[in-house]
Amino acid sequence: MIGRLNHVAIAVQDLDTACAVYRDTLGATLTPPLPQPEHGVTVVFVELPNSKIELMAPLGEGSPIEAFVARNPGGGVHHVCYEVDDILAARDRLKAQGARVLGTGEPRIGAHGKPVLFLHPKDFLGTLVELEQV
Ligand code: CO
Repeated sequence: MIGRLNHVAIAVQDLDTACAVYRDTLGATLTPPLPQPEHGVTVVFVELPNSKIELMAPLGEGSPIEAFVARNPGGGVHHVCYEVDDILAARDRLKAQGARVLGTGEPRIGAHGKPVLFLHPKDFLGTLVELEQV
C-alpha cells in the first residue's frame, strides 16, 4: 500500500543551526524557510536525489512540536512520510486493521499542499507516520 519515502522530518529548536548542519557540513541543497502558521511550524526542505529531509522548528504559541522539541533540545527525528495513491482508501484499510489515525481522521493539506494524515506512533513501532497522497 505505501509507496516511496517522501521525507523524514527532523524537529529542531533553531532552524538556522539545523540548516547550517545540512548545508555547510553535509553539503546539501536547501529550500528557503517556509513559515506555516496554520501548522505552527517553519520548514526547510533538504533536497536529496532520492528523497527529502524536512527540518522544522516551532512557530508561534502552542506549536504542535513544542513539547517534542523541549524533550529533544538537540533535535530529533519527528516523523517519516510515505506516499500513497489514495489517502482515504489507505485510511479506511488502516482503521479496519485497528490502527489509530490522529486528529479528526480527515486528511488535511500538509506542507507540500497535498492531503496528509498522521498515524499513532504506538501502532507503528514507536514512529509517527505521515501519509501523503501524491
Ligand atoms: Co512531514
